[in-house]
Amino acid sequence: MADPKGDRPFARLPLPRRAEIVLWNEDCLEGLARRLAPGSVDVIATSPPYNLGIRYGRYRDRLPRAEYLGWIRAFVLQVDRVLSNRGSFFLNVGSPPRDPWFAWDVAREVGQRFALQNVVHWIKSIAIDRRFTSRTSGVERDLALGHYKPVGSERFLHSAQEYVFHFSRSGDVPLDRLAIGVAYQDPSNIARWHRPREAMRCRGSTWFLPYPTIQRRARDRPHPATFPPELPEWCVRLHGVRRTRRWIDPFVGIGASAVAAARLGIPFVGFDIDPEYLAVARDRARRALAGPRSIDDRSPRRARPARPPSLRRDG
Ligand SMILES: C[S@@+](CC[C@H](N)C(=O)[O-])C[C@H]1O[C@@H](n2cnc3c(N)ncnc32)[C@H](O)[C@@H]1O
Repeated sequence: MADPKGDRPFARLPLPRRAEIVLWNEDCLEGLARRLAPGSVDVIATSPPYNLGIRYGRYRDRLPRAEYLGWIRAFVLQVDRVLSNRGSFFLNVGSPPRDPWFAWDVAREVGQRFALQNVVHWIKSIAIDRRFTSRTSGVERDLALGHYKPVGSERFLHSAQEYVFHFSRSGDVPLDRLAIGVAYQDPSNIARWHRPREAMRCRGSTWFLPYPTIQRRARDRPHPATFPPELPEWCVRLHGVRRTRRWIDPFVGIGASAVAAARLGIPFVGFDIDPEYLAVARDRARRALAGPRSIDDRSPRRARPARPPSLRRDG
């Protein structure tokens, strides 16, 4: 890879077929402009800081709203430059209870340049009453699943959901919906189908993805605002593994997306301004590379990414 500024990536991990996971310790607005050729990215799956005053290591997460939205605008300009014509831009944002418009204000900003193709609700925790389940579901008692952060308030409900806004240029990018599909519940129907894909339906716009239970926060999840690796993984699978030559996470944090890239074996570029987070991201991705790959055995052909597009500079 060419390296015009003479600088080196923070980490570079090899994937099969001469592909790589590359992590840059860099402001992504500069990094996107400097490292990636126009149109060279098929999927962006990311979560920016939410301007909530969260205590990140390096980033100061409290700007006047207008300034923050101006920064999002500048970021979207860079996204516009690197995203391919049929690419997907998945943006995870949540609203705090006291400011429910926040996520939509961000979405509106992005919507100035991209079409909002889908709105996914990432459900972090849910309670399911047994009486609303079907006989075939096998559920025998009321369920309370996942983790949530309680709020001490008489006004607000605790927030158990965030958005994943799916943007594309035209709003009509085809998706591989069954790559993250769910099995039909009725076994009598399944018996009639021969191929596994026929026993699946579209998952829809609610994705229940709980955080894994951890013992010690500082050791097991040393970052204040993460998503689980399955979130970006599902985004890429939905876009289509075979159609994804390269994907990126400009705010990679402790590397959930890098872990997903390792599992999927798709060329990946991540940026973060915080080297301590990146060190965790690199180690997690390494461990994921040593573990099992995600094989989409529901695909007609096995998941196999296309060759990465050439880079103008680096990636
Ligand atoms: C919401 S967190 C993303 C966490 C990530 N999804 C994960 O699961 O670990 C936002 C991240 O953006 C990083 N960040 C803030 N400003 C940045 C910038 N201009 N360029 C790159 N990274 C930035 C912060 O250090 C933080 O790790």
